[in-house]
Amino acid sequence: MIQLKNLVKDYGTLRAVDHIDFEINEGEILGFLGPNGAGKTTTLKVITCFLSPTEGNIFVEDKNVLEDSLEIRKIIGYLPENNPLYFEMTVFDYLKFIAEIRQITNFKSRLREVIEKCGLHGVVEKPINTLS
Ligand SMILES: Nc1ncnc2c1ncn2[C@@H]1O[C@H](COP(=O)(O)OP(=O)(O)O)[C@@H](O)[C@H]1O
Ligand SMILES: [Mg+2]
Repeated sequence: MIQLKNLVKDYGTLRAVDHIDFEINEGEILGFLGPNGAGKTTTLKVITCFLSPTEGNIFVEDKNVLEDSLEIRKIIGYLPENNPLYFEMTVFDYLKFIAEIRQITNFKSRLREVIEKCGLHGVVEKPINTLS
């Protein structure tokens, strides 16, 4: 469960997110819509602990972004509009690198799982910049 409580995010004098509250329950698939500049990306950056809130708090399960930022980062995944990839790396090297910095211990079995789930058969050894 993810719960936003009275979230405010300012960039200097610009208020990007102005007191929003909502809740996402387990298993729910949610569309988060709004015009350009409405604050959607900023809200996601605060949920994923990339930015800290100006006011309010966000709860992810029993953790909150003010006190448990590192713990939340371990259990949340975020695929932003521009993928943060190193295009010169192969798919394998990239996954290995990310697994290392995320301290994933059972790399071999997780790799098999990710290849299966994401349909990466046949591209694992290719440089990312050659993929469609
Ligand atoms: N890093 C930043 N510094 C200053 N202002 C920002 C920054 N990121 C976004 N903004 C501003 O915050 C507001 C919300 O932006 P954003 O969250 O990207 O909206 P959305 O994703 O809904 O289009 C906009 O006015 C945008 O210009
Ligand atoms: Mg956006």
